[in-house]
Amino acid sequence: MKQILSLTALSLLSLTAVAAPRSAAETEAAVQDLLSRMTLEEKVGQLNQLSGYGAHPDMLGRIRAGEVGSLLNETDPAVVNRLQREAVRKSRLHIPLIFARDVIHGYKTIFPIPLGQAATWDADLVRQGARIAADEAGSVGIRWTFSPMVDISRDARWGRIAESFGEDPLLASRLGTAMVEGYQGDDLSDPRTMAACVKHFACYGAAEAGLDYNTTWVPMPLLRDVYLPPFKACSDAGAATFMVSFNDINGVPSSANRWLLKDLLRDEWGFGGLVVSDWSSTAMMVPQNYCADLREAAAKSANAGMDMDMESYAYIRHLPGLVRSGEVAEATVDSLCANVLRLKYRLGLFDNPYVDEKKAYDFYHPESLDAARRAVERSAVLLKNDKGLLPLDLASYGKVAVIGPMADDRHNQAGTWVFDLEKEHCVTPLEVLNGLAPEKIIYQRALKHTRDRSEAGFADARKAAGAADLVLFFAGEEAVLSGEAHCRTDLTLPGAQKELLRELRKSGKPIVMVVQAGRPLVIGDEADLCDAVLFLFHGGTMAGPGIVNVLTGVAEPGGRLPVSFARASGQMPLYYNRKGTGRPASGIVLIDDIPEEASQTSTGCTAFYLDAGDGPRYPFGYGLTYTSFDYSEPSLSADTLSADGSITVSCNVTNTGSREGSEVVQLYVRDLAGSLVRPVKELKDFSRVTLAPGETRTVSFTLPATALSFTRADGTFGPEPGEFNLWVASDSQSGTPVKFSLK
Ligand code: GLC
Repeated sequence: MKQILSLTALSLLSLTAVAAPRSAAETEAAVQDLLSRMTLEEKVGQLNQLSGYGAHPDMLGRIRAGEVGSLLNETDPAVVNRLQREAVRKSRLHIPLIFARDVIHGYKTIFPIPLGQAATWDADLVRQGARIAADEAGSVGIRWTFSPMVDISRDARWGRIAESFGEDPLLASRLGTAMVEGYQGDDLSDPRTMAACVKHFACYGAAEAGLDYNTTWVPMPLLRDVYLPPFKACSDAGAATFMVSFNDINGVPSSANRWLLKDLLRDEWGFGGLVVSDWSSTAMMVPQNYCADLREAAAKSANAGMDMDMESYAYIRHLPGLVRSGEVAEATVDSLCANVLRLKYRLGLFDNPYVDEKKAYDFYHPESLDAARRAVERSAVLLKNDKGLLPLDLASYGKVAVIGPMADDRHNQAGTWVFDLEKEHCVTPLEVLNGLAPEKIIYQRALKHTRDRSEAGFADARKAAGAADLVLFFAGEEAVLSGEAHCRTDLTLPGAQKELLRELRKSGKPIVMVVQAGRPLVIGDEADLCDAVLFLFHGGTMAGPGIVNVLTGVAEPGGRLPVSFARASGQMPLYYNRKGTGRPASGIVLIDDIPEEASQTSTGCTAFYLDAGDGPRYPFGYGLTYTSFDYSEPSLSADTLSADGSITVSCNVTNTGSREGSEVVQLYVRDLAGSLVRPVKELKDFSRVTLAPGETRTVSFTLPATALSFTRADGTFGPEPGEFNLWVASDSQSGTPVKFSLK
């Protein structure tokens, strides 16, 4: 009896014992020891990631046979433990599984979509959101998320701009690393942390014509100076994993791109983590006309250094044979497998493989919901506010008409990539308004959803507007109109929303338009019909409280645009840090103003569209506040910068309004001449300051010469001597430059 007890005690202990984290050397020794005891098939099994729902006999059999290294999409903690027991107790070497999920902007407490989090320009908020996501997801056994997505997105036709941090490499770098830090915490063996997965490596956002999965052509200087920096920043921040992108880069798919995955990621950057494919991206190389069949795809991916194969079955079906035929060295498989085992040790899974079911479903803490609401408030971008209509004093209005398809839509306010959303926990703007002043609110949805073209609801909407003193028009995009495979060629409001707004305009009442969408929209015409415009990238669970707090002045609109808003869809791709042209736009003549039989050169010869003019409707970095700020001319610690030195840039920012407010002070430079054509402007730093009315604060930045580096004509990276303009401003189009030179 004593013997049985001690065995039972031991097995219980192993279930709950949490050993101290191993040192890197101890982990390496454990990995190599385990590897030395594995068969080729067992090594390949660790490289196989499958999507699983439920503990079905077929899946249990694969796990028992050592054919699965990781599962994605199982979120029932009891099932997670059942599957894990099959691996830990029944497989020959008892190697635990990693459970993964797309936790993109929250697990249950849904934060704004990443593009909305980018609009906060607030790394602390982004880090906190990721921490909350890891804590909630960890409570059901998820230990690996496929986030942050740091693809630079310059084309709003591309639906996945919603998941990105926008068009600027510096902003994406800072917020991407904050997300990595939030997910991974200080100790990745803590069950309430998740391995981050930096994706999609690389250039996915450069998809030709903004069409998802499309080819990309990215010259090396553009690749290194725009698309790669956020990935490098996340690698340097200690991201545990990377995910390859579906697209090819200049003809070589990322899933089999040895230059990308080995020469750059491992050798140049020193990344020591795991690289996973995107969903069946290895198999996709066949229709991409890059591989003749799945076997060739498996060989090319393995030899390029892609560690884990998500859902294409290429590795599990073909790698053993490829090793036996000599087309893939077993040492290669050892290396791929070691990266998987290393991650499992880092996650503490060998010591603590199970999720604590007694502490599962640990969601929606009040402080989490507060943080989500603050993120909404800080992501809200005030685009227009004529006559200071906002913030609203609801008491001063008799009736308020709340109209439109996005005023009361729990599902769609959450945005894309919310597999685990419980929409009953979402709070909508209408619910909050009805809670504040039920006697004032007249609500008309008017359109069934944002794509609805029917005008059947217009009469009631007109009536509501006519009976009200103020109209709140809630417009936008449904969640399904952005995200993966959801591209649009027309970036205007879908359905009959513009027509509905025109009808509301006839009421003569003041109109506030609140737009919730997954991308920057072309809404200039609509904005011209409104007195105030507030724009949010889908805000998540707490979109309602956040939006109403901003509308009523409980909170300020803290957002600044992380992407440029176009005047017309045809301007795509559109981004602020574009290269200079030899003929910058001047003397713009628009199509309706061109006289008949106008001569060939009568509209000038400069870079603008006859039917849209030039530049964005709302620029990168833009956002109004409920106060106003004045910027002094920037002062420089020196007007000459040495190649190994730095200068301090200072600017006095004054709150010239009557309310406290925060301002995102932005530092831009322009290199006036280079061995390659240089961008007209580049963000080099930013800082948020909160100032009381009348308060002046000196905001200072340190600008090292290294920050002026770029990939030069000879392929080397570094700054070049010459003259520079420098701005300290409230957005990418404001401010007066000062000059400095680099010796
Ligand atoms: C999807 C996406 C990727 C996601 C993965 C797993 O197709 O491209 O971002 O993480 O598959 O769901």
